[in-house]
Amino acid sequence: MKKIITICLLTAGFYACNNGGTETKSTTATTTEPAAEKPAAKADVTDSPDFVKGLELVNNNDCKTCHKVDEKLIGPAFRDVANKYPNNPSTLDTLAHKIIKGGQGNWGSIPMAAHDKLSVEDATAMAKYVLLLKNN
Ligand code: HEC
Repeated sequence: MKKIITICLLTAGFYACNNGGTETKSTTATTTEPAAEKPAAKADVTDSPDFVKGLELVNNNDCKTCHKVDEKLIGPAFRDVANKYPNNPSTLDTLAHKIIKGGQGNWGSIPMAAHDKLSVEDATAMAKYVLLLKNN
């Protein structure tokens, strides 16, 4: 009787070990893949709805006569504007009103034209897009 139990235990032990070995292998293989994909998805801000909407409004207004994303034209490069200010509700509000009222002094003595037909909502959407260009 004792002998049979010993054989049973040995057999069980053998199978347990064997199973354990294969299981560890397969879990490692499945967990590494999704982790590797995450950083790439986070980096692309151009897919965000705020970015798409703001860019569309900028394209439909006269902004590009005086602004480019990476180069100073008559007005500062939009990316320089984004890097100058913190991206928070107070900056959004200030920039939206500046876009509507125009003005000078933050980048030099050339004034930005007023856009008094723009709604605060559209001006804010454009300011959001500009601030998303931040890279520091
Ligand atoms: C006639 C040229 C001109 C046009 C058109 C223009 N801008 Fe400007 N913009 C400027 C100038 C010049 C400045 C710098 C003003 C200053 O020194 O404070 C400026 C500044 C800005 C700033 C930064 C404001 C600040 O206080 O830092 C934003 C944001 C901006 N423009 C967005 C826009 C958007 C959006 C449009 C389109 C609706 C637009 N601009 C159209 C000339 C222009």
